[in-house]
Amino acid sequence: MKHSDLHSDAYASERDAADPLRHFRDEFLIPLHEGKPQAYFCGNSLGLQPRGVRAHVEEVLDKWASEAVEGHFREPAPWMPYHALVREALADLVGAQPGEVVAMNSLTANLHLMMVSFYRPTRERPAILMEAGAFPSDHHALESQVLFHGFDPATDLIEVQPDEEDGTFSMQAIERAITENASRLALVVWPGVQYRTGQAFDLAEIARLAHAAGAVVGFDLAHAVGNLPLRLHDSGADFAVWCHYKYVNAGPGAVAGCFVHERHAHTDRPRFAGWWGHDQGTRFQMRPEFIPTPGADGWQLSNPPILGLAPLRASLELFGRAGMDALRAKSETLTGYLEQLIRARLPSTLQIVTPRDPRRRGCQLSLRVLGGRGLTGRRAGRDLFDYLATQGVIGDWREPDVIRISPAPLYNHHADVLRFVRAAEAWCG
Ligand SMILES: Cc1ncc(COP(=O)(O)O)c(C=O)c1O
Repeated sequence: MKHSDLHSDAYASERDAADPLRHFRDEFLIPLHEGKPQAYFCGNSLGLQPRGVRAHVEEVLDKWASEAVEGHFREPAPWMPYHALVREALADLVGAQPGEVVAMNSLTANLHLMMVSFYRPTRERPAILMEAGAFPSDHHALESQVLFHGFDPATDLIEVQPDEEDGTFSMQAIERAITENASRLALVVWPGVQYRTGQAFDLAEIARLAHAAGAVVGFDLAHAVGNLPLRLHDSGADFAVWCHYKYVNAGPGAVAGCFVHERHAHTDRPRFAGWWGHDQGTRFQMRPEFIPTPGADGWQLSNPPILGLAPLRASLELFGRAGMDALRAKSETLTGYLEQLIRARLPSTLQIVTPRDPRRRGCQLSLRVLGGRGLTGRRAGRDLFDYLATQGVIGDWREPDVIRISPAPLYNHHADVLRFVRAAEAWCG
């Protein structure tokens, strides 16, 4: 197929008609722009609302109205074990055993809770290793933990510098940093997909390297969950945390996720405890001693926000139906199409920062704007970004100079990708 064909409406609609997952788009509410659905590429920030969410939220509101406190116990979907309603689907989504996952709190809160148990620095091994340029909340959390334990972030928070020209990391750079610091490392925290560049990592290999160095390893999967098939249990990670408002489409500030490997199910590591983490069989005996529930559930603090969990039921149901492997296959095609069109039609306008190898990325392409309309650098980037929004093409902007475009296989189609490329071409003039 020639590039000119790729750029045609006929090509895009043919591909969309052949897409076995095309009906999932109808399961979402897509915001309108001038009466027409937006081309929405911002699932890396906030995923769209599944139509099924409203019924689950209304079910909770109705139950509260008609049953009040009895709603904790009465079928269907009693609130007492409500978090367990998402357990199986969540375990499937991240490749874990059911007892290894729990939906609770928010991402940063879970990261702290995990570090309370899994970052146990000593004078000999005080250090945490992370990627330079990490999402600020991760940096704040890790730095504050180092300080909390009385160590010095200047020496004990080791930030691995990207060694590839687009600001991405070779596996060799990660390996070198881990082995060079092996004797001082208490913990390695690494992203599944880097938020700014969209680079995906081999988590099993990073876990292997960290463990060989004698360190504990945890992953931030904010940009990986619902984007890439994950095999968390097999990766050997000690813990992982993620949010559900991006690719999982569970709504703004949705209840987050947490994984604790089964080998820690009965750990006697210290933890910050709360009554919802207490052994379920005796929780309501209201005794002062804390006996943790085995597995990830044992890190829960409070009774869960039912209204916050309700949308997650609807969104996980879609992943269950579509299947993560099928979604990934479509995602590779869709992002590959975006890449091909950018390289063919916009080579002097957009530089793709995200790795070219599909095994090293998820659905997101991070784009640096080289220039256009007589502008260069950041000013060109902002100008294009603002122009795209006026055309109903929604990506997002990350300082200092990156536009992120993330075709989500559940609701984006080839026609959206074509619309983005044409809008960028129109901006160039
Ligand atoms: C990689 C990463 N880590 C942490 C966070 C912070 O998440 P939260 O506000 O849910 O704690 C985000 C938010 O987008 C993120 O992208």
